[in-house]
Amino acid sequence: MSRLLGKTAVITGAADGIGYAIAKAMAAEGAHVVMGDIADDKGTAAAAGLRAAGLRAEFHHCDVAEASDIGGLIAAAAASSGRLDILVNNAAIAIGGMPIYEMMDDEWHHLIAVNLTSVFRGCKAALPIMIRQKAGSIINIASVQAHIGLDGWTAYAGAKGAVIAMTRQMAVEFGPHNVRVNSISPGTINTPMNEELAARLGPGLMQSWVGMHPIGRIGEPAEVAEAAVYLASDLAGFTTGIDLKVDGGLTALPRFIPHQA
Ligand SMILES: NC(=O)c1ccc[n+]([C@@H]2O[C@H](COP(=O)([O-])OP(=O)(O)OC[C@H]3O[C@@H](n4cnc5c(N)ncnc54)[C@H](O)[C@@H]3O)[C@@H](O)[C@H]2O)c1
Repeated sequence: MSRLLGKTAVITGAADGIGYAIAKAMAAEGAHVVMGDIADDKGTAAAAGLRAAGLRAEFHHCDVAEASDIGGLIAAAAASSGRLDILVNNAAIAIGGMPIYEMMDDEWHHLIAVNLTSVFRGCKAALPIMIRQKAGSIINIASVQAHIGLDGWTAYAGAKGAVIAMTRQMAVEFGPHNVRVNSISPGTINTPMNEELAARLGPGLMQSWVGMHPIGRIGEPAEVAEAAVYLASDLAGFTTGIDLKVDGGLTALPRFIPHQA
């Protein structure tokens, strides 16, 4: 398929999980994907694998908490292909599972740097190029945590809520330049982030997650990637400022949980 033919896409946190699935899906749709991550070996291998499949992919080291890294990643993409059509601010970390009063200041600052300041910096680097081109699509990966409450995740939810608010603001501000800005809020997705959480927070967590989704299962990275491909494509040319929930119905309805006597 060729929904993104001729487009250049930068994706952060693209060595694994949802970011890798987005890179793979966008490359399969004809995009030249420029992948950034701190996991250099994994990212290098992932990009090589896509190239071996005949797709256009390159990997660069990028710690989104470092201003020069994210700026460098976007500059590298613009230099190698002469344009930048798509930016996916995907990289994030999950620090939580504790009451907010137990969170250390350095954990807070690290989470905000990786999950929120990175979005500011990515957009800051990409927007001037997209405005010059009079075209662009920015996709920020948010979370259902921005929409619902869950014990122990105040800081993560705060960062994701801010990502959605920034998305809306930028959609309004840069719409006149034909730059679209949307977010995606995934439900629980089958990625290394959740494998690590399930291992740390105990058995049974996965079953609880499944029970939160009316669709009866957790999601796959490819299902989030498909939403990102749509938002990046010209088919979504009239869609900006939205938060697209890919969450198996999790946020649709508070679930009735029968009382066990
Ligand atoms: N998995 C879920 O259930 C879920 C749900 C809602 C939202 N999300 C969001 O989706 C996005 C991807 O999550 P995931 O589950 O694929 O995560 P993951 O941990 O499985 O993968 C994240 C990738 O980002 C990279 N990364 C981590 N810190 C980085 C940094 N400082 N700079 C650059 N890269 C970095 C990791 O090396 C890894 O390759 C995140 O924004 C996350 O908050 C995930």
